[in-house]
Amino acid sequence: MITLNNNTVELEKNGYLDRPIDPSLDIITEIKRLKEEHNMVLLAHYYQEGDIQDIADFVGDSLALAQEVVKTKADIIVFAGVHFMAETAKILHPNKKVLLPDLKAGCSLADSAPPELFRKFREQHPDHLVISYINCTAAIKAQTDIICTSSNARMIVESLPQDQKILFAPDKNLGAYLNRVTGKNMLLWNGSCMVHEIFSLEKTTKLKHLHPHAQVIAHPECEESLLALADFIGSTSELLKYTKNTNHTCFIVLTENGILHQMQKNSPSKIFIPGPPTNTCACNECPHMKLNTIEKLYLCMLYQLPEIILEPAIIERAYKPIARMLEITARGAK
Ligand code: 13P
Ligand code: SF4
Repeated sequence: MITLNNNTVELEKNGYLDRPIDPSLDIITEIKRLKEEHNMVLLAHYYQEGDIQDIADFVGDSLALAQEVVKTKADIIVFAGVHFMAETAKILHPNKKVLLPDLKAGCSLADSAPPELFRKFREQHPDHLVISYINCTAAIKAQTDIICTSSNARMIVESLPQDQKILFAPDKNLGAYLNRVTGKNMLLWNGSCMVHEIFSLEKTTKLKHLHPHAQVIAHPECEESLLALADFIGSTSELLKYTKNTNHTCFIVLTENGILHQMQKNSPSKIFIPGPPTNTCACNECPHMKLNTIEKLYLCMLYQLPEIILEPAIIERAYKPIARMLEITARGAK
């Protein structure tokens, strides 16, 4: 659930988000000034607009962003991403102020696991260990044993004994992919991401015929039929690294469009074709991620609002599975 604090409600009533910004103002310079003046760190996910990525102190995938949060010495964390990411930052640093430019920047995948229904599902399977994808609410994290991201999910699943019963939530596509590559039989919650489910199998197949030298690269949140077409499957950071290091020069990219900004920056001479959605709209853009704009980012830093507020009891319970993920990941990296 997304909660607005009283200050935000007051300011929203007064329309602070709609206040016109002086057109002569150099927003980028102002953002840099505010960052310095208030010791803020600006973190951005790869799915943000290019202008936000370019001004961020750090751009990364969900795992790298969580690791960066742990390291930060800043007083205020400004999260250009979606609500569950900013919540994770708050859980890791309860005493710091965490800001999200638009509190309505949610996530269809996180929304697919309502906490009460999830509690009942868990109670029906008391002998199962719960692994939740980081794309879930703090209330789900508080009911989880280990969190994972798409970068470390396989490592985390494989770190457990083969006969360990596991319930995986909320992404059924990532869960099914993990079952296939690890040989496990995890019980899956029936959730999915609206962006990664929109790619058209038919159009991607046609695109592949049109560009026979193009490689299909896909995020594991995509459906199995699309993943079956892929030459490489990985998290956003793994896809980025792959396109940079491989000798291949043309890619059909089956994940949210925002990542193309970094891909093109890292490999200016290579060709990146956005994966085709089932219809003609820009559905491979995450409508939640794209709620953040450079103007909202500036206003958020200026007013230091809206702020992420979580109940201390939720923070305490949600911290443990995130800490466990970070420990397993650090061990695996050695
Ligand atoms: P990663 O950042 O782990 O690649 O996940 C992508 C995503 O869907 C974030 O919302
Ligand atoms: Fe959620 Fe999908 Fe958007 Fe990521 S891309 S924030 S999983 S809706």
